[in-house]
Amino acid sequence: TVGHTIFDLVGGMEFFTLLVHRFYDRVWQDEVMRPMYPQDDREGAEWRLAFFLAQYFGGPTTYSQERGHPRLRMRHVGFEIDLDARDRWVQHMTASLDESDVAPIIHGEMLDYFERAATAMINHNTAF
Ligand code: HEM
Repeated sequence: TVGHTIFDLVGGMEFFTLLVHRFYDRVWQDEVMRPMYPQDDREGAEWRLAFFLAQYFGGPTTYSQERGHPRLRMRHVGFEIDLDARDRWVQHMTASLDESDVAPIIHGEMLDYFERAATAMINHNTAF
């Protein structure tokens, strides 16, 4: 049933699949970020991020059914995420969001979340 979640307002799964695909196009061209990702499993990485975001914004709980509780900070401890990596992640996601046809209020809500979530993922100090 179609409700009033952000997931529904942006048009459902298709939106998240495309957003994440655009995001990974940028990550794959980023010489700092690309080496952090599983080189032979971009498809899997896209699935995990797309279904996590869909779930977070009110869509189906497929992510947790397949992967369990998100525990995102814990899942990122293996990657050295400093302020620079955080800023790159946000920059790529913002650019991808800008390419998506989404109402300004939703764009703002999503960006707020991405900035907060990305800051919370910092687990390494280099440039302070
Ligand atoms: C996984 C890096 C921030 C959500 C990953 C992976 C890397 C990574 C290298 C492994 C790829 C994979 O196999 O799935 C980073 C970096 C960040 C960042 C450098 C900079 C701040 C975020 C943020 C979110 C997020 C802000 C959510 C809003 C996820 C999810 C996964 C993931 C859902 C898959 C977890 C799993 O099920 O295994 N991230 N990430 N990440 N990341 Fe991030």
